[in-house]
Amino acid sequence: MNNFEYQNPTKILFGKDQIENISKEIPNKAKVLLLYGGGSIKKNGIYEQVTKALKGFEVVEFGGIPANPEYAVLMDALKIIKEQKITFLLAVGGGSVIDGTKFLSSAALYKGDTPWDILTENIRTTSGMPFGTVLTLPATGSEMNSGAVITREETKEKLAMGGPGLFPQFSVLDPTVIQSIPKRQLANGITDAFTHVLEQYMTYPINALLQDRISESILQTLIEVAPKVMKDPKDYKAAADFMWSCTMALNGLIQKGVPTDWAVHAIGHELTALYGIDHARTLAVIAPSHYRYNFEAKKEKLAQYAERVWNITEGSVDEKAKQAIVRTEMFFNGLGIDTKLSDYTRDYMGTAQEISRRFTVRGWNTLGEHKNLSPSDVEKIVTMAY
Ligand code: NZQ
Ligand code: ZN
Repeated sequence: MNNFEYQNPTKILFGKDQIENISKEIPNKAKVLLLYGGGSIKKNGIYEQVTKALKGFEVVEFGGIPANPEYAVLMDALKIIKEQKITFLLAVGGGSVIDGTKFLSSAALYKGDTPWDILTENIRTTSGMPFGTVLTLPATGSEMNSGAVITREETKEKLAMGGPGLFPQFSVLDPTVIQSIPKRQLANGITDAFTHVLEQYMTYPINALLQDRISESILQTLIEVAPKVMKDPKDYKAAADFMWSCTMALNGLIQKGVPTDWAVHAIGHELTALYGIDHARTLAVIAPSHYRYNFEAKKEKLAQYAERVWNITEGSVDEKAKQAIVRTEMFFNGLGIDTKLSDYTRDYMGTAQEISRRFTVRGWNTLGEHKNLSPSDVEKIVTMAY
């Protein structure tokens, strides 16, 4: 196992009716900016619960943060933060609203002229404006990590940012919020969380027995609850397991002391930036090709995953590893998620070259757990995903 440091300061309030407790977590005299997305919270009762809990606080609202949080929209929110002298941010939404709020937390205290530089110049946020979250969509893990991904339509870019100053102070995880989530978003959430585990697990063996077992148990739990959640989002038991699995998949725990990959996400973000494909679906498109292209480097872990997660016990390491990739595709397909780029756009010719070009310009030539994937490897992986 590699050396590591681990600190996660986010307080989790898990369970039914926990939204009412947010008032205890926000400083008394705070001036709160309540941030939300396209309006789902106004239809499912979450908005009422939050505003009731915020009684007594001075609250300003900012709605309309779109899926794949858009820089231009967030800049409008930043203006309000400055003009209204906001001191605390409350994100009520999925990964997009939470990520947008993290950007604002950083941008609010940023000394430079152009907050977009935080993303392009990889500026780590060591302290941001304090914020909390009420999670409405289990998927990204953003509610308990310090990363964010921001989109800029003008340049068709989607870039990541983060730093120790961007952990939420608290996050409410109430599994009843799942009841109103459309099936497409539930499938996305399962697929995203599943792939988060794979990014931190599907590398090479390093004798980190516990990290492997935790990762495998998150995968097994997602596989077990997926059909229940898809069939009946009111099933509280399944919703609770689903929600906590998504958080655990990307709160930093399983990546400690082990090599991680993240090439699937790096490539997938480009597909969202170029074509607007849902984040999780881009991962389902890229992951199988990525694992086939890097088969030799990953086959031992693929075979372990085959045995322990999918109960594939027959055959050689190579055979089991190949089966594991097929089972992963079948799992995504079973959720209604297509795994080829051509399923999402007819305009895919040239995509591989464009992504490879972008990575070359950015100097991204050390992707993957061995840091040996060049833009030309990326081009081949994306071509395999057509
Ligand atoms: O905007 P509203 O009206 O709220 O509707 C949203 C949105 O249309 C809807 N929704 C959310 N909760 C709902 C609901 N509808 C009904 N009932 C509810 N309870 O779902 C739609 C999608 O929401 P979004 O927040 O975009 O989804 P998700 O949570 O999947 O977030 C995706 C974003 O997170 C980033 C992605 O790149 C993408 O931009 N990621 C963030 C990560 C992180 N910070 O750690 C890691 C991930 O890998 C990912 O990159
Ligand atoms: Zn993801």
